[in-house]
Amino acid sequence: MNSELLHLARIMPKAELHLHIEGSLEPEMVFKLARRNQIKLTYATVEELKAAYSFNNLQEFLDVYYAGMSVLLTEDDFYDLTWAYLKKVHDEGVVHVEIFFDPQAHLERGVPLGIQLAGIQGALEAGKATLGISYRLILSFLRHLSEASALETLELARHHLDRLDGFGLDSSETGHPPEKFARVFAECKKLGKPITVHAGEEGPPEYVWQALDLLKVDRIDHGNRAMEDEELVERLVKEGKTLTVCPLSNLSLAVVEDLQKHPLVEMLNKGLKVTLNSDDPAYFGGYLLANYQAVIENLPLTRDHLHQLARNAFEGAWISEAEKQKHLADVDAVFS
Ligand code: HPA
Ligand code: ZN
Repeated sequence: MNSELLHLARIMPKAELHLHIEGSLEPEMVFKLARRNQIKLTYATVEELKAAYSFNNLQEFLDVYYAGMSVLLTEDDFYDLTWAYLKKVHDEGVVHVEIFFDPQAHLERGVPLGIQLAGIQGALEAGKATLGISYRLILSFLRHLSEASALETLELARHHLDRLDGFGLDSSETGHPPEKFARVFAECKKLGKPITVHAGEEGPPEYVWQALDLLKVDRIDHGNRAMEDEELVERLVKEGKTLTVCPLSNLSLAVVEDLQKHPLVEMLNKGLKVTLNSDDPAYFGGYLLANYQAVIENLPLTRDHLHQLARNAFEGAWISEAEKQKHLADVDAVFS
């Protein structure tokens, strides 16, 4: 049974909706870019850096994640990072990606938004042309920074709206509820772009309610803790709200104790529109296919569950109805 599901997971067309491009920065590339940019790292070897990839919670990860991305300085750096991600997932059968980037983290190091975008989008366009991977690019605000900083970043973003497909909210969740950014996302809404925010990863169900009611989100990133609130689950099901769940991330950040206790199957059985994603694959031990493999091997996932996951990813994607129907037909053909 497992071998059939593993085979289907490999060959089915896949979409990834929750990927931080900076979280795809592999240790080897950290060293390569540090050399190229003459940056001195606090780690002497790739092995030493990898040894730091052991986290007890979200914040411990974020400290390493922000330190790692400090080597990204030039357009070429952002291009190489994004291209490496696209090549990897292309080999796994990924045909559509919706990726986050964290502009404030790079602005703090003096990298202009235009440089970040030129590199990331340049690679995304090359991926579309040569690998056939379609994409959306999502500007994510850092919630541990102030509302004023997010508003300043949004002012910069107004010069690049043709290159931005949506807005997100990530970083340290606890103590930084969605309501802190209600005015920021009201401005984003006025721009007519979709919104997705991290909520219910470490934060309480209340943060998911706020994301829905105050930020008027189109998707929820993670959303695991919504399962603690039955009324909230009913609301998410009724609205068909997509949740971008990340099992290997959840395991690495101790959101779940072990994969056998991951709520994915319960979430699917309740009718939640759950999708599978890798979040920060260079740090959490695997790209999108590895996340599918991990849930197949650790949970009582059926063929129908897998089919549903594959469909949910395209249904929740920010693409045209015609594109959706094409991808869904391709998925159904694999499962027919
Ligand atoms: N949660 C919050 N912020 C993040 C994450 C995450 O999983 N990954 C990168 N930034
Ligand atoms: Zn994330």
